Amino acid sequence: LRGIVAMDGPSGTGKSTVSRRLARGLRARYLDTGAMYRAVTLAVLRSDVDPTDAPSVARVAAEARLTVGTDPEHPEIRLDGEDVAAEIRGERVTRAVSAVAAVPEVRGLLVSRQQEVIAEADGADVGIVVEGRDIGEVVAPQAGLKVYLTADAEVRARRRTAQDTAQGRRVSLDETHADVRRRDEFDSSRAVSPLRRGTDAVEVDTTHLDVAGVLAELFR
Ligand code: CDP
Repeated sequence: LRGIVAMDGPSGTGKSTVSRRLARGLRARYLDTGAMYRAVTLAVLRSDVDPTDAPSVARVAAEARLTVGTDPEHPEIRLDGEDVAAEIRGERVTRAVSAVAAVPEVRGLLVSRQQEVIAEADGADVGIVVEGRDIGEVVAPQAGLKVYLTADAEVRARRRTAQDTAQGRRVSLDETHADVRRRDEFDSSRAVSPLRRGTDAVEVDTTHLDVAGVLAELFR
């Protein structure tokens, strides 16, 4: 594939799995924009900055040295050279990420970085699958295929819990369900709200679909 695929939607819809599988199958690159917001959030927490203190958050974001890879087999994310892929999935980051992602300077900075990565792949005539919340609407409105994944909140919470457990983190379904609901609300209520389906996006409800089912739906 050449060109850009935008994969948007809330937590637990299978975005990451579908995006990586798709990128592998199409021999395309893969960009996880959520990992970038999470890495900045980790930098904020490590600096002992309050995630709701927007000016300080913006300063930390401007100073953080972020490296993001685009290999769908090994999505790499580094903060000041350190591999933080595991740490950014932890509970502390998950709890603070929505507040950090709501800071306009953070979004401005990361959206530019994402657009650079996309332009680089596109310029080299390599396809790229980009997952996030605002890809089809803000980051890459020129994307040739825009997908918006949804699923029932209950199912999304169950998927997140299974994923956390598989990666060795202990979380309860109730807590995860509460987190999913809280982030849904936060992500879609803020002033710079990116979580919405564009009119030109293909919506796939993944409540009753596995990854193969979602891909089949996309290429029907
Ligand atoms: O854990 P989950 O897959 O739900 O989320 P993620 O994709 O890792 O993104 C974590 C958080 O980053 C989201 O809850 C949003 O607050 C924020 N985010 C964003 O604002 N814009 C994006 N393009 C991607 C993520």
